[in-house]
Amino acid sequence: MEKTLVLIKPDAFGKNHAGDILKLYEDAGFKIIAAKVMKMTAELAAKHYVEHIGRPYYPALVEFMTSAPIMALVLGGDNVIKKVREINGATNPAEAAEGTIRKLYAEDKTKNAVHASDSEKSAAREIPIFFSACEIFD
Ligand code: PPS
Repeated sequence: MEKTLVLIKPDAFGKNHAGDILKLYEDAGFKIIAAKVMKMTAELAAKHYVEHIGRPYYPALVEFMTSAPIMALVLGGDNVIKKVREINGATNPAEAAEGTIRKLYAEDKTKNAVHASDSEKSAAREIPIFFSACEIFD
């Protein structure tokens, strides 16, 4: 089964949109095969966002992601990586299509409600940062 890592970010989780967001993924036919509520540390953020270290927005991104709890998920299903990115919408909510999570719940490019792996390679790298093998039920 194809798998992807999703993070419901502090903005959306703090505004009680986790249920709304999970429903969109489940209604699209995907299975929640791992889930946890957790607080990201700066170390975890540096691992997850390693490609973004040094970008001008990186300090604000880490401050935001470590500010309050997130919900980490592994979703499974056919073509889940591409389809979840479509359900999430564009990184910049101003460019997100109607009905996408970021159009519905995001504020800006930092407070943008959700993260999802962008490729099989990213999913394979990102999932073990948040979950051990025994926490994933595929
Ligand atoms: S983009 O649009 O191609 O730059 O987006 P991407 O490379 O996929 O992801 C960028 C991640 O960094 C977060 N972030 C920002 N990106 C761009 N500009 C600003 N100012 C910014 N601030 C934060 C953005 O939310 C993406 O996070 P994830 O968690 O990967 O969606």
